[in-house]
Formats: sequence, structure tokens, C-alpha cells
Amino acid sequence: MTILVTGAAGYIGSHTCVELLNTGYDIVVIDNFSNSKPESLKRVKEITGKEFKVYTVNLLNRKKLEKIFEENRIEAVIHFAGLKAVGESTKIPIKYYHNNITGTLNLCEVMSKYKVKKMVFSSSATVYGIPKTVPISEDFPLNVTNPYGRTKLMIEDIMRDIYKSDNDWSIALLRYFNPIGAHWSARIGEDPNGVPNNLMPYITQIAVGKLKELKIFGDDYPTTDGTGIRDYIHVVDLALGHLKALEKVLSTMGVDAYNLGTGRGYTVLEMVRAFEKASGKKIPYTVVNRRPGDVAICFADPSKAKQDLGWVASRGIEEMCLDSWRWQSNNPDGYEDSSKVIATL
Ligand code: WQD
Repeated sequence: MTILVTGAAGYIGSHTCVELLNTGYDIVVIDNFSNSKPESLKRVKEITGKEFKVYTVNLLNRKKLEKIFEENRIEAVIHFAGLKAVGESTKIPIKYYHNNITGTLNLCEVMSKYKVKKMVFSSSATVYGIPKTVPISEDFPLNVTNPYGRTKLMIEDIMRDIYKSDNDWSIALLRYFNPIGAHWSARIGEDPNGVPNNLMPYITQIAVGKLKELKIFGDDYPTTDGTGIRDYIHVVDLALGHLKALEKVLSTMGVDAYNLGTGRGYTVLEMVRAFEKASGKKIPYTVVNRRPGDVAICFADPSKAKQDLGWVASRGIEEMCLDSWRWQSNNPDGYEDSSKVIATL
């Protein structure tokens, strides 16, 4: 059974490929490497000892996309490929809509043509916007506040309309909360371009001396210590959630959304303390103004995924912080640092 993974070289894509291969799936992967490096896929092969075809393809290239479906007997698609920086999306919305929406429409058209009607889609908790209460469940109002989030919600709606038009489709929409951590081997991990926007990679780059101090965006939120609360989830738990969703789409029809979170929130200061404890490194910080668009508190009610998919996140905050630290300390320059890489496999 061959699974096509788009955006496979990315942070969550590469971790999901490891779990797919370890579980015995054959995979074929697509990436245009606009936001990732081929090195991550080499390391997926190193970790699993498995081979797989890599197509350097942009989903906007319909011809090349069709060729992949001609050359491989694909059973289902896990679709990660897409631009994903909230701030950047407000500056270049047309690029986000074209890349994320048109790319997905191309993919769905080709899937339909080759009768591949099973998809796991990488959505995001960002589709909930500013939740009225927490924890957040899947039936909460969807209310996006930026072009990136709007592309995720639009694609969810496109997938729901595709299913309505053809009940042979089977689709799982996975709404991620805040993925952090890395595979225990420390050979794959989060490798953001430039200065990280997200909290954990910013912290780990301070710990390896690449950045000086953390700016904490506001300590006047209605939380225990005033700093923002998020639902941090280990990227391997997230990857395993994709396998459970894949099992579901391979066995049933329909379209359904699932929160992939732990159901527990931590403040920024709690994350700083947890990381300091796990790494033994001091993280200097100053409190500055709130970041525009940030929500105060966001964490999941993950009970639907537990009930429908039989999935529960099992890795705690200590393991998340330790694995983030081990990845960064072994790869101070991310995948750039190919000097440590075993000769090309
Ligand atoms: C977490 C907390 C910040 C950086 C983003 C995207 C979202 C999704 C997940 C894709 C917040 C605080 C952060 C810093 C800080 N991505 N923070 N200083 O904003 O919850 O979600 O990633 O789907 O779309 O928006 O994650 O890691 O940026 O922030 O104080 O330098 O850390 O205010 O409370 P966020 P984050």
C-alpha cells in the first residue's frame, strides 16, 4: 500500500514519514524544498533504513503531479505541503492563496482523475481564531484572522464540498495545536528559515547561543503568570495521530475534523522553566508588548480523536523540551550542518 506524502521534508512531514515507514507502509514523497531541505529526507532513510522515491515537484505543476500518479499505485495522500507563516501571510496573501489553495485544487483534481479519494489534510487550530472558551472542541465556531489561517479553513471547506459531491471520498482534517520536540534520534527536527517566529525554536536557538534573549510577548493576559497559554504537543505524538487518521480514511468514507492536542495548556514562562530544567541552560528573557493577533489561551479538547481514532498524545512537557534541546544541540545549524551526516545513503 503506497501513501503519497506532500511536503514530506518539513518538520511534521518528516516525522510522519518515519512512523509510516516503521509501521510498514510504502511511501512516495513530494516536496519543492521551498521551506525545507532534502537532508531531512536523507535522515528519514537513515533512521528507518528504508528507501522511498522523492519527487521534487511543486503542486502547481499539474503535469509533473500527474506523472507521479501514473508511475505509482497510490492508495491515499497525506497532504502537508503549504506555506505556513501567519505573519508572512499578511504581507504576501496572493502567494499564500495561490500556493496553498491552487496547489491543493491541483492535487484533488489529479487524485480524482486517478480514483485516489482518501486524504489526510494538515489543518491547524488557527481555524478557531480567538476561542470564546477553552478547551476547544471541533464543533466550535471557525473564525480565521489571517490569510494563512483562511487558506486552511478554505481547504477544509473545499474538502467538505468534494465529499458532498462524491461520497466515495474519505477525508480527515487534522487541526494541529503547537507541535514541538523531535525524534529521539536527534537526526530530524524543527529547522525554521531565518529567525524563528515560534516559541520553542526561538528558545532552543538561545540555548545554543545563536540568539541572545527571549522577548515574551505580554505578561498581562488572564493567566496564572500573565503569559500566553498554548497546547504544546510532541511532534511524534502528532505524527502518530496521522497514522491513526490514515487507518480511518482507509477503512471508512466521510469527512471529519480532529483536534490533535494534549488537552493541557502551558504558559510561556512555564515553558521557559521546563526547558531550563530539561536542558540545564538558562534562557534570559524580557517582557515586551503583546504580539498582534495572539490569543490569550488556546488548548484542545482532544476527546473526539481519542474516541474516533483511538489516538491520545502520550509524551509530556519534559520529554518535549528534552527532545527539542537534543535536536538543536546536535544540529546547531539545523540541516545545514551536513558535516555530521553519514555519507549520502
Ligand atoms: C506560542 C506562545 C506567544 C514567540 C503559531 C501559529 C499557528 C500554528 C502554531 C501553524 C504565544 C509566545 C512566541 C516568542 C513569545 N502554526 N511567544 N515569544 O502563535 O500559538 O501559533 O504556531 O499552524 O498558526 O500562529 O505559536 O510558538 O508563535 O507562540 O512570547 O518569541 O509563545 O505569544 O503565547 P502560536 P508561537
